[in-house]
Amino acid sequence: MTDSSALHSVPEASDSLPDAPCYLNGEYTPLKDAKISVMDRGFIFGDGVYEVVPAYAGHLFRFTEHMARLDRSLAELRIANPLGADQWRAIALQLIANSPGYQRSSGLNDAQTTANDRLIYIQLSRGVAMRDHAMPPGLKPTVFMMCNPMKLPSAQQRSDGVACVTAADFRWEKAHIKSTSLLGAVFARQISVDAGAAETIMFRGNYLSEAAASNVWVVKNGKVMGPPKDRLVLEGIRYGLIEQMCQSAGIAFELRRISRDEVLTADEILLSSATKEVLPVTSLDGRPVGNGEAAGKPGPVYARLYAAYQQAKQKEQSHERLA
Ligand SMILES: Cc1ncc(COP(=O)(O)O)c(C=O)c1O
Repeated sequence: MTDSSALHSVPEASDSLPDAPCYLNGEYTPLKDAKISVMDRGFIFGDGVYEVVPAYAGHLFRFTEHMARLDRSLAELRIANPLGADQWRAIALQLIANSPGYQRSSGLNDAQTTANDRLIYIQLSRGVAMRDHAMPPGLKPTVFMMCNPMKLPSAQQRSDGVACVTAADFRWEKAHIKSTSLLGAVFARQISVDAGAAETIMFRGNYLSEAAASNVWVVKNGKVMGPPKDRLVLEGIRYGLIEQMCQSAGIAFELRRISRDEVLTADEILLSSATKEVLPVTSLDGRPVGNGEAAGKPGPVYARLYAAYQQAKQKEQSHERLA
């Protein structure tokens, strides 16, 4: 018999959701009221893709690159993009304008003023159909977008760096698709949560791939190195940005296979993602990263790339204002 009083004491799941609007299949609706079919293939199979776009003071950062990656992911799933980039942009800007606490301002943002920074989440699934693994043709994709406050790393994480742990990369071999099938990433990320660390840095055999939700960079003798852009890693939007920033700053940059030993003996290790931007890893599996006096502290290449990143944010905002 069911104990109905116990059931009634469980709060509605939607009660914990923020009071913010979202976009679902052509309509703006409060996030807590948005509903999709239980037969949505995103729910049944994780048959969908997503994007996470940072927006600084109402300016979508690297939006063209995010749209290009969305198209690449959709092409892999053989789903036609139902919206053009301008339509995606218009929806994102509308959600930002209506997000709780957002203040319209003509001024540029700076690294210290994050109250107007937002994270746009875009998700498409193949759509609704009776359960069958094969891809049914002609479905109408489910389109969802929401806008959340951006949780940037804390001042302490910036000044001290973060701890990471290593693990085998047990995910699938199509990591280049930004797929909503994320159980491998969920397991990987939980390894670091259980260890009290910020991220899980993963290896395929002897070689570095990436972290659960970030790309990983290794610095040796002043050179920034990352794994090749292949099917074993997600090409973060920061891949291109870090390469550009290195070029402008005269920092050597190379993409190639990086062995476990090279990671363990690196001068610096960095994470990159939409929210982490670039973040120094100062401890790996409990041992300080780096050598000599500099060990366990954020390094000089991190400092230069972080400064360049803040400049890139400012520059894109001012370009958009002029456009
Ligand atoms: C597995 C994985 N790699 C890399 C990244 C970094 O990608 P981006 O720089 O586009 O945020 C992410 C971001 O979520 C990720 O999930």
